[in-house]
Amino acid sequence: MPGTFEGARVLVTGGSSGIGAGLAEAFAAAGATVGIAARRRDRLEAVLERCRAHAPASRLWVADLADPGAVDRLAADALAELGGVDILVNNAGIPKRRHVTRLDPATVETVMAINYLSPVRLTLALLPHMLERGSGRVVNVSSVAAPLSSPGESAYAASKAALAVFSESMAVDLWDSGIKVTVVYPGVVDTELFTLPDNDPFTGGVEAISVDEAVAVIVEGVAAGALSVYVPGFFAEFASGKAQDVPGFLAGAAEFVRQRAAAGSGSEPPA
Ligand SMILES: NC(=O)c1ccc[n+]([C@@H]2O[C@H](COP(=O)([O-])OP(=O)(O)OC[C@H]3O[C@@H](n4cnc5c(N)ncnc54)[C@H](OP(=O)(O)O)[C@@H]3O)[C@@H](O)[C@H]2O)c1
Repeated sequence: MPGTFEGARVLVTGGSSGIGAGLAEAFAAAGATVGIAARRRDRLEAVLERCRAHAPASRLWVADLADPGAVDRLAADALAELGGVDILVNNAGIPKRRHVTRLDPATVETVMAINYLSPVRLTLALLPHMLERGSGRVVNVSSVAAPLSSPGESAYAASKAALAVFSESMAVDLWDSGIKVTVVYPGVVDTELFTLPDNDPFTGGVEAISVDEAVAVIVEGVAAGALSVYVPGFFAEFASGKAQDVPGFLAGAAEFVRQRAAAGSGSEPPA
């Protein structure tokens, strides 16, 4: 989409790998100046090099978004060094997949801090500047785990549901402000998210799509001003199917997990 985002200043969290890295490069290729943030400097530098091939003023910031002070510094640095943020992409996230019987409160808090509190904090820091200009876009990367109650992902699904619901309420508040909100619901995208340490194996059941495929759908959705973007789109039907029969959907999910456990994979309860 060359030129679609000409002159836009785009901040992408979690820009060191996976979907965030792909989005950063796609926005840069479409004419934006990009700022990326995450913890791994070496990985950010590699992504930045690719972004700078299109947008030489692109920048990186090393930030651990579990730390509220780091979130505030990132907002200030992005505003100062990019000269403003037109599109904020809250993409950084962690899964911490485990059966609920092995979940502890500290893990729940960590997941909430990174997946919910940090994007909200970053949004609130940048919102006044968007309001001042009367334009802007907040793109929050949730997950189909939120509407579909993914097994073994209760902490993760809840954090992503919180982010989605916050986003939708915010969209109503901002309806006439010139600031638009997009919630992205990826399904299964082939990234490092499924091989991170300290996670149960992924229960699976759906074929993964590539980062490039996911990025194309997301960028198209943002360009079109979509409020919700399911990746791939068929997950929207799964979500509305569940909403019409929650007990039936959950019983089906439990049966699926039972079958996976019998086959020796998935997030089983402790013996
Ligand atoms: N892949 C999927 O199928 C899928 C499905 C649904 C939703 N999602 C969501 O999509 C987003 C991107 O995930 P991905 O699949 O691309 O996985 P990924 O490659 O693991 O990317 C996660 C990104 O978040 C960053 N991050 C994690 N913890 C951080 C922290 N404390 N501070 C700053 N940055 C942090 C990571 O960077 P550092 O490690 O360098 O900090 C990395 O850049 C996540 O929000 C994820 O929940 C993915």
